[in-house]
Amino acid sequence: MSQDKPKAYVNTIGCQMNVYDSQILAGLLQNAGYEQTHDPDLADLVLCNTCAIRHKAQEKAYSFLGRFAGTRIKGKRPLTIMAGCVAQKEKEKAFARLPHLDLVLGTQAFGRFETHVKALIAGETRIVDTAPSENIFEGFPKDALAVKIQVSRFVTIMQGCENFCTYCVVPYVRGKERSRNPHAIVEEIEGLAGSGVREITLLGQNVNSYAGNNGQVSFADLLYLVSRVDGIDRIRFATSHPKDLSMDLIRAMKDIDKVCNHLHLPVQSGSSEILKRMNRKYDRDTYLKRISALRQACPDIALSTDIIVGFPGETISDFQQTMDLLETVEFDAVFAFAYSARSFTPAAKFSNQLDEQTKRDRLNTLLDFQEKITEKKNKAFVGKKVTVLVEGDSPKPRDGFVKKNKNTRQMFGRSGANKIVHFASDQAAGGDLVTLQIINAYPHSLWGEVCESD
Ligand code: 5AD
Ligand code: SF4
Repeated sequence: MSQDKPKAYVNTIGCQMNVYDSQILAGLLQNAGYEQTHDPDLADLVLCNTCAIRHKAQEKAYSFLGRFAGTRIKGKRPLTIMAGCVAQKEKEKAFARLPHLDLVLGTQAFGRFETHVKALIAGETRIVDTAPSENIFEGFPKDALAVKIQVSRFVTIMQGCENFCTYCVVPYVRGKERSRNPHAIVEEIEGLAGSGVREITLLGQNVNSYAGNNGQVSFADLLYLVSRVDGIDRIRFATSHPKDLSMDLIRAMKDIDKVCNHLHLPVQSGSSEILKRMNRKYDRDTYLKRISALRQACPDIALSTDIIVGFPGETISDFQQTMDLLETVEFDAVFAFAYSARSFTPAAKFSNQLDEQTKRDRLNTLLDFQEKITEKKNKAFVGKKVTVLVEGDSPKPRDGFVKKNKNTRQMFGRSGANKIVHFASDQAAGGDLVTLQIINAYPHSLWGEVCESD
């Protein structure tokens, strides 16, 4: 590491797409002459890639960037940049709370980022770029950030969303749906495979409506293309919209061995009335039918979902229907959120908003209920064999188990069904596919023993 290069700190809040975007922004900072630091207090430039999905995430961004108002390094404060969804949403308004902010960089302005950084270095300040862009920029650097997991990487295949669910700010901050060129995607994945990556997660707000080459390449087609990349053993994708889960896609999931047997299919609510007012374009029955079709084609498929509790006007009976749906489907994992009113969205203006306490109570009831289901689903794996893609050493090893297995290391990997499995081994390395016999199940993970035949 050179001593004289200026240092940049990149903080990421939010979804997997933001993790991917931060890699791009870090790469562009590297092009502009910066090197990465893991200590924000040593940084000459601080960038926060932000999330606007809920009020809490937005506040987190403001509070993080607020820390640098008075920080001084080498006699000056660092250049401070707000990027991503909150930047796109707030525009000049961001200066009201963060007068020291130097750049507000919207979600479609990455192609102009390097020019803006040069301008900042030359002394300009308070730049705002939230202009929309028709195209997806290609050819960005993507390897500047020391990513934690080298064997599994995200690849964004499309941007934006035009579904306009009434609670959601995404269509307003991420713009129109734009699909990347399929060849650029495949080329990127070939490059990753060449550097040791074994698993790819294809990302988009609604990957099922991917339409590459002006609509000639569907998402199912793309899965076939990606499955032909040598060196990639596993393909995952997120997020899928239930209204667009086509039979073609279900067939592709069944046909392509590399596609993992897990689907994240956000239902949001179990009440048809609420789904209608959320503008989800499916009802409870249609969702359940799609799940049946999926389970018929792929019997062992693991399912996860997103739920919003406390949507405006949600009655006890609506909430009960959501609980009932969880009981019926038995998801492997549920990500549940209390409804948060967002600017621009129609639902924020609905009368009958619920109070915070009711939302919190319902959220806790739902999470407690689901925890039992998740544990039951995990216990069903005990005695079975699963193959995991090894990610590395477990962050918190359980000494007893490791010693009992006469090993010194505890590793972990993910099964095709997306279960985290810990195991003791001195031989396994990140990127290996290892078959394990499951001997114990916990609420959030499994414990396995390496099968002798491997
Ligand atoms: N309030 C709470 N949760 C929300 N989500 C999206 N918008 C909101 C909101 N306004 C949740 C949805 C979505 C997930 C990414 O975030 O469940 O699937
Ligand atoms: Fe938001 Fe709905 Fe688009 Fe998902 S599909 S990003 S919830 S508007």
